[in-house]
Amino acid sequence: MANTVIIGAQWGDEGKGKIVDILSARSRAIVRFQGGNNAGHTIKVQGKETILHLIPSGILNPGTLCLVGNGVVLDPHVFLQEVEQLASKGIDVSPARLGISKKAHLILPYHKSLDQAREAKRAGRKIGTTGRGIGPCYEDKAARVGLRAGDLLDADLVRHKISQALEEKNILLRAYNFDPLDADSVTQDLLALAPTLTPYLTEVESRLQEVQNQGGDILFEGAQGSHLDIDHGTYPFVTSSNTVAGNAAAGTGLGPSSLNRIVGIVKAYTTRVGSGPFPTELLDDTGSYLRTAGHEFGATTGRPRRCGWLDAVILRESVRLNGLTDIALTKLDVLQNLPALQICVAYEYQGRRCNYLPQEEGALAKVTPVYEELPGFEDDISTCTAWTDLPDTVRVYVQRIEELLDVRIAFISVGPDRSQTIER
Ligand code: IMP
Repeated sequence: MANTVIIGAQWGDEGKGKIVDILSARSRAIVRFQGGNNAGHTIKVQGKETILHLIPSGILNPGTLCLVGNGVVLDPHVFLQEVEQLASKGIDVSPARLGISKKAHLILPYHKSLDQAREAKRAGRKIGTTGRGIGPCYEDKAARVGLRAGDLLDADLVRHKISQALEEKNILLRAYNFDPLDADSVTQDLLALAPTLTPYLTEVESRLQEVQNQGGDILFEGAQGSHLDIDHGTYPFVTSSNTVAGNAAAGTGLGPSSLNRIVGIVKAYTTRVGSGPFPTELLDDTGSYLRTAGHEFGATTGRPRRCGWLDAVILRESVRLNGLTDIALTKLDVLQNLPALQICVAYEYQGRRCNYLPQEEGALAKVTPVYEELPGFEDDISTCTAWTDLPDTVRVYVQRIEELLDVRIAFISVGPDRSQTIER
């Protein structure tokens, strides 16, 4: 075994939660390294579904240490709601097995208001954010005015930082015709949570080092997807953090040499939520079929997801950006009953065929996908438990993806349940 990073290779919603859940059962610790409650990781065990936004998906496996790294932006209310929800299901969420980095930045009400105010103002060119305050919180981190989880140990510091922040944020909120916020009530609301939250504060890097020293394996849980990365994604239609595997080190405090195995989660087709270019998007009946069959509605916002064919061009880019060693192919069962399957193998751009993503802003919206057609399948594959159980047509599709990406497909998911997974 080795330390493993799990990242989304497309635009998020690839089904990471399920694979993280499976691999975390084999890991001593699991840590989230970026994003916040814009994520929604769905895990289904024996028919029972759990959706997590902040707490690492390994929490359902008793005995796994679950940590929230410094690279995450944490909404304290959401964290405590998830703790309560899990506790009511009898899951151990004690600070002995669940911790938050003191360096993680906190999402406060003014971050949410600003996120929503800016989106409202961007009529016609919205990013389509989740409205959870993710971007404004990372902005404050970069501007060095953010409030970190460890600050909760010092009430005076909390009061000071919030009142300073609101001097500026209230000017902005008024300019956007949004209600200004009262520093005292924001402070009191946060400090009221401090007694419940502070027992979870921990030094994530030391805890992880300890696990490594004892020979335990660590799982790094990514959120969103590689093409939503702030640097490498389809800017400006991206999230505000680095979603690529390299950030698993910076977002937790371990060195890059601790990252051994990098598993990219690839949905057997493509989806995207929010705005931004999507070359293989299907605005026809096939797109609707994928949305319905794949239950493609956001786990966080409930928004219908845009659906389209698999795009090997963006995936080849993900292989390089993340240094993928393995792929987990998810939702393969959703493709059942489609008469033919298309894979985008290249783009046509400015009259030429290209095998890579053009980088100029807006260019990806102008490419035309070049497709390769493969036969569809009618068989129900949701009960297959081995590679050899899969019909030939399905194996051809999987092998073609492997060839195009030159990475081993180590896991194939054929249904939402933990048990519906083929390991090769
Ligand atoms: P933000 O992360 O809320 O700022 O949203 C920025 C963009 O990332 C929007 O297009 C969102 O729809 C998208 N996004 C954020 N989180 C996720 C996710 O977990 N899955 C899929 N898309 C996401």
